[in-house]
Amino acid sequence: MIPESLKDELLAKVASSVTPREAAVDVMKELQKHYGWLSDEAVDEVAEIIGLSPLQVEELATFYEMIYRRPVGKRVIHVCDSISCWSVGCDEILSHLRMRLGVEPGGTTEDGMYTLIPCACLGNCGEGPTMMVGDALYGRLTPERVDEILEKEKKKAQEEGL
Ligand code: FES
Repeated sequence: MIPESLKDELLAKVASSVTPREAAVDVMKELQKHYGWLSDEAVDEVAEIIGLSPLQVEELATFYEMIYRRPVGKRVIHVCDSISCWSVGCDEILSHLRMRLGVEPGGTTEDGMYTLIPCACLGNCGEGPTMMVGDALYGRLTPERVDEILEKEKKKAQEEGL
């Protein structure tokens, strides 16, 4: 269960939304932040907060790439594989990440630090190749820059006590 204070905050957000669906993504993200991923129990909690059925929440959850319905690493890496990033070498970036992390797309590193997920456009098309690590967006990637980012994100996670 989430803390009562967070539940009250989310209920207030839902109350100020035009429709419950409008608040659904924010509520799912908050519970995901709290638990690390959106388990079946968390889906039930979201459903209770926004006043939809668990099945309706499930449908919304599977629609959004940034909502995780299975356990993920401390940081999820989303690598854009849409057309603009593909034309400037996202394949090379994805291969580098697979090799560097030792995981296939969808996999999580043995130390539980990173989950690697290819994804659709991240809205940074002019500065590709692009990836997101957690909430941070990174563009103009090269394999060397990817290595620097992985180190930086790992340190940041350690500082945050993750
Ligand atoms: S195509 Fe990669 S960010 Fe848009």
